[in-house]
Amino acid sequence: MSIDIRNLTFRYNPGTPLENTSLKDISLSIGKGEFILIGGEIGSGKSTLVRHFNGLLKPSSGQVTVDGMAAHAKKVKARVGVLFQFPQQQLFGRTVFEDVAFGPRNFGLRGNELEEQVYSALELLGFDKEICSNSPFHLSGGQMRLVAIAGVLASMPEYLVLDEPFSGLDAENRTTLLSALKHLTTKGTSVIVVSHRIPDLLSAADRIFLLDHGNLVFGGTPVDYVKHAPYLPEITCLMKEMRRKGFDVRDDIFHIDDAFSEISRVLNTKGAVGK
Ligand SMILES: Nc1ncnc2c1ncn2[C@@H]1O[C@H](COP(=O)(O)OP(=O)(O)OP(=O)(O)O)[C@@H](O)[C@H]1O
Ligand SMILES: [Mg+2]
Repeated sequence: MSIDIRNLTFRYNPGTPLENTSLKDISLSIGKGEFILIGGEIGSGKSTLVRHFNGLLKPSSGQVTVDGMAAHAKKVKARVGVLFQFPQQQLFGRTVFEDVAFGPRNFGLRGNELEEQVYSALELLGFDKEICSNSPFHLSGGQMRLVAIAGVLASMPEYLVLDEPFSGLDAENRTTLLSALKHLTTKGTSVIVVSHRIPDLLSAADRIFLLDHGNLVFGGTPVDYVKHAPYLPEITCLMKEMRRKGFDVRDDIFHIDDAFSEISRVLNTKGAVGK
């Protein structure tokens, strides 16, 4: 079970003076239960890439398949949930309940089952039931984002694609969202997050893909990332700086707990400072 992308090239406005090749010969695959980050500079093709995962865009050449089916096949719609880059624009319901229920209702859920699905998606994102009767348009910007995300979660997709879900969220909401996403991966959902804040999310990821001007320039684990990629987490920078200053510490660390253990180990070792 996977999303498979083979030699994907995509051109906007082909055959016109505005033709723009936004993805160039991309190949990658995403397995069940993986937590994937997709990063890259502004305009590098991140949103264009993920719009292929549920067939919103069709490749100019190459293939995108989801569990062996073409990504634009009707059956794929229920498997891939997508949160667009500006999720507030996805809200439309009179109440939060109506909004979050829209997806699962579309896929045939009714009655208690529908209610349970809506409540559990909202609960996972830190809301209680009372919010259901509120208008989504009277919520704060961060809450609106989370309600839009709950709407995608409530459909229980097997692949959850979120385009910049963390922007506009405060630290507390970011933590809530990240742990909700991690929880979903433990249940077998594949989570694909587009973000320009890869270093902050690295410790949650299984694999990272980086785009640059439509090219896939990196694909690997967080350990590969801290060895090869240009933007590093602060904790890795700290370890590198310590190493530069003569401490015999590992500098491929990106998790705060590992950094703590490593620094404790070195400070407890006699003669830790080499230079
Ligand atoms: N609808 C469109 N028509 C024509 N060109 C487009 C369209 N949407 C995006 N592009 C171009 O395709 C390229 C990739 O855009 P895309 O939005 O996928 O990048 P991105 O990495 O998601 O950027 P951002 O970090 O700003 O979200 C850019 O050069 C962009 O100008
Ligand atoms: Mg984008």
